Amino acid sequence: MGNLMIIRGSRLALAVASIGLGCAESGSSTDSVTGGASSSAGSRGAINAGGSKAGGGYTNIAGATQGSGGAGVSGTLGASGGAVSAGNGGALLSAGSTSGGASNGGASGTGGTHTGGSAGSAGSSGGAGPTLLGATPPMGWNSWNAYNCNGLNETVVKSMADAFISTGMKDAGYEYVNLDDCWMDGRDASGKLKWSASKFPSGIPALAEYIHGKGLKIGIYETPNTKTCAGLYGGYTAGVGSVGHETIDAQTFASWGIDYLKYDKCQGQLSAFAVMRDALKATGRPIFYSINPADQGPFCTPTNCSLNLPQTANMWRVGFDISAKWSEVIRLIDANKEQYAGAEPGHWNDPDMLEVGNGLNDVEGRAHFSMWAIMAAPLITGNDLTKMSAATKATLTNAEVIAVDQDPLGKQGRVVATPGTNLEVWSKELSGSNRRAVALFNRGSASASITVQWSQIGLATGAASVRDLWAAKDLGSFTDSYTASNVASHSVVMIKVVAAP
Ligand code: GLA
Repeated sequence: MGNLMIIRGSRLALAVASIGLGCAESGSSTDSVTGGASSSAGSRGAINAGGSKAGGGYTNIAGATQGSGGAGVSGTLGASGGAVSAGNGGALLSAGSTSGGASNGGASGTGGTHTGGSAGSAGSSGGAGPTLLGATPPMGWNSWNAYNCNGLNETVVKSMADAFISTGMKDAGYEYVNLDDCWMDGRDASGKLKWSASKFPSGIPALAEYIHGKGLKIGIYETPNTKTCAGLYGGYTAGVGSVGHETIDAQTFASWGIDYLKYDKCQGQLSAFAVMRDALKATGRPIFYSINPADQGPFCTPTNCSLNLPQTANMWRVGFDISAKWSEVIRLIDANKEQYAGAEPGHWNDPDMLEVGNGLNDVEGRAHFSMWAIMAAPLITGNDLTKMSAATKATLTNAEVIAVDQDPLGKQGRVVATPGTNLEVWSKELSGSNRRAVALFNRGSASASITVQWSQIGLATGAASVRDLWAAKDLGSFTDSYTASNVASHSVVMIKVVAAP
């Protein structure tokens, strides 16, 4: 490979440039991670330097030490990392007492092979059975995209919870308020995780109570390694991982009132994801389990992973970190588009958090949101909710588009036609009969007209009604097809098509 380094996306570019580290790229196909020193960090070119990254990465992390500590992880992944015992898919079912009945989807609770088949009837009313955790994709907010490492603190998080209420986000369905990396301060003498007292002077349990008091839920971040990602890549020495501490950490999270865990590989071992799953289950508290099972490509997806994702977690990342650029939105859509069979109630593909309101223009932000909705992706916002423009707020709270994402059938939409260069027709089957959400997606730089044929979306030829979801307008009845003319560059026309039963 000569001097070619595979670095973990742009996050490391500055670290390399400024420090001139020798980056190891062994060319091995497994992600062998040995020893702590950066020079032996393994095949994925991990660099353990304190660095900085503009835009969504590791910037200005307090206490970052350039060139400091390595991963401290040993062992070879890949060959040994894949086995996950069967029969644990039900770990993620919560024994809730809400009014909805059990999901009959089966696949989520049986630990059987994931087929991507029928999800069954979710939420039939009146039952007293368990509520499926993650029956629809999670909706919420996460601190990373806007606040990165240093900006996270209790004041910010509380202000977001307040904004959930004042902006109508909660009414629109958002419920999780999630702390990403950099909330912690190592462990105490008994091995229990400590929160950063300077960032969270009232403590995480009090914060959880505050968030719960608003009818919302709280999420937190950890890794199956000895360091968090900011610890590995940003010199955030207070960021310690959960490997070897899964039981105590899961119990700690449960005792604090945590409802959601983002568990981010950060060079940990794949097999450790099931260890945390079991530790979470053992707490008895329903904790949505969102994992990032890869460091950088090749990514670990339902179609390409030694880990059985639906038996392990409620949701899994399918691509490297997003940032607020159109090309990044496209990259993650493309990473997710072939994974549609992996989504079902209780189990979702995660193309990463939203960047709406973080620098994309309003048209692009709306397209980004539309595509996440048609992909049944998590709607985890990453912007400052206290300072949203009217356009950003209108995008994030659009009830009809959110309803596409949250449709209880739980299908992930997919490309059904590419009627021109950079033009795509996406279709998502909705609950009820003969109903489809359709995204007419113009990825290119010139406006274009895009047609969807009923035959492409599995509907009979003949008449079907069409509603424009962003315009909140019934467009009338159309025979065999619908054409949106002048679909602007980087935009989506999103419609609902309902054919006669
Ligand atoms: C990884 C994840 C990001 C974020 C950071 C925090 O890069 O992919 O979403 O959680 O770690 O360090």
